[in-house]
Amino acid sequence: RVLILDFGSQYTQLIARRIREERVYCEIHPPTRDVEWVREWGASGIILSGGPSSVYDEGVPTLDPAILELGVPILGICYGMQLVAHLGGAKVERGKREYGRAGLRVVEASGLFDGFDPAEESQIWCSHGDHVDTPPPGFRVLASTSSLPVAAFGNEDLGIYGVQFHPEVAHSVRGEEVLSNFLFSICHCSPSWTAGAFIDESVARIRAQVGDEAAVICGLSGGVDSSVAATLVHRAVGDRLTCIFVDNGLLRKGEREGVERTFRKHMGIRLVVVDAADRFLDALEGVEDPEQKRKAIGGVFIDVFNQTAIDEGTGATFLVQGTLYPDVIESVSAGGPSVTIKTHHNVGGLPDDMPFDLVEPLRELFKDEVRQVGRELGLPEEFIGRHPFPGPGLGIRVLGEVHRERLDTLREADAIYLEEIREAGLYDEIWQAFAVLLPVRSVGVMGDARTYDHVVALRAVTSRDGMTADWYPMPHEVLSRISTRIINEVDGVNRVAYDISSKPPATIEWE
Ligand code: XMP
Repeated sequence: RVLILDFGSQYTQLIARRIREERVYCEIHPPTRDVEWVREWGASGIILSGGPSSVYDEGVPTLDPAILELGVPILGICYGMQLVAHLGGAKVERGKREYGRAGLRVVEASGLFDGFDPAEESQIWCSHGDHVDTPPPGFRVLASTSSLPVAAFGNEDLGIYGVQFHPEVAHSVRGEEVLSNFLFSICHCSPSWTAGAFIDESVARIRAQVGDEAAVICGLSGGVDSSVAATLVHRAVGDRLTCIFVDNGLLRKGEREGVERTFRKHMGIRLVVVDAADRFLDALEGVEDPEQKRKAIGGVFIDVFNQTAIDEGTGATFLVQGTLYPDVIESVSAGGPSVTIKTHHNVGGLPDDMPFDLVEPLRELFKDEVRQVGRELGLPEEFIGRHPFPGPGLGIRVLGEVHRERLDTLREADAIYLEEIREAGLYDEIWQAFAVLLPVRSVGVMGDARTYDHVVALRAVTSRDGMTADWYPMPHEVLSRISTRIINEVDGVNRVAYDISSKPPATIEWE
């Protein structure tokens, strides 16, 4: 397995993704880990990420120099390379910012550039302020560009390498090969991290944690994370797992039935469905402010969940949570994507301080890996490729005060919208698509009569992680079909609008 020490690069998670794609297990840790910790962890290789700092600045993150002497292969990327140079006694040149594409030429054969032809240039991606002009003693120059004499260096005896460019980004056309050379030729890793292997290991770990008798509960939301987590735990403890699905009255059309069908019938999991719509709608009465709505929904959810766990007499002492790796990375680039999103991420879910021991089987997975595991577990594709859906559900998509009839109207419009997107084969291209019911009415004419009805806004965005998003350029003929169907089929709607705002400055949800 491979240890990634994170010096604060915006690409650190990408490095981890690339390594996992090569089927090698890796973890991201802060650079403050000392040599003892690293030895204990047992890395086959170590990657030092890039970062925004300059090695000569005060208080910048550095590396326990003893790690360089462990005999474990090391690859420094950008700032990581400069750090290797600096600790190895070479000078790091300041200034001369370089950002963007460059042509890499290999100047000396090495394991890192195995398969590269010195006569051919390959495109790489750079983003740095400082660079190295002369490698540290004992290191050889392995590759250059027209502006960087030392685009890569290495000391094959020590197994330590540095690259000034970013092999982890797609713009470095053969970056994947550089990383795979490091993993397989230099670190001698084996590509054994697969969904199947993960499931076996994880089932054994869950059994060891929960023991032979204890009962476990899980709040199913219908989203991919809780679905995969529940299925995995079910495989480990069978009927000692009870899943609770709270119907809060804010679900999309057919959602509850889909969950019942999949989990109870298809997967054979014990599932308790609680119809709590009245409680949620009562709590939302007269509430218009989006944050107040979130609070109200979140509060009722926790009450209903706890009460159900007691009423069902499960005697559970363990609770399953679908926490993913991006939420647990102890990264120096804190303030990055995983951190900021948390402020509302879990609204409508369960807090961490419940009186249960937590079972978090997805703690070390990225989202795409969760999907692979789900497929391997036999979850139907409709659950695996799902768009994210917020915990407060349609409660934050009926703008302003939430009423039962408004929810019904929105549910119908949203179902038509999603059905047409699926029909047009666009669902998987879109990060999230949904309808919003606006709190205004507009004048229309139907038949020969005047109408004064509701407006539905359609939102569709592309995104990588929900932090930033672009509005999706929906083909006009699809929009036209959706609009016609919504206005014809949904009572009380006479106008449809398409949202063309990106995030930022807008957000994905309207509230
Ligand atoms: P925004 O609207 O902030 O949304 O651009 C980013 C992502 O988060 C989802 N979201 C939520 N998820 N509880 C959740 O569990 C919430 O209160 C909540 N608010 C927004 C949103 O659907 C998008 O995927």
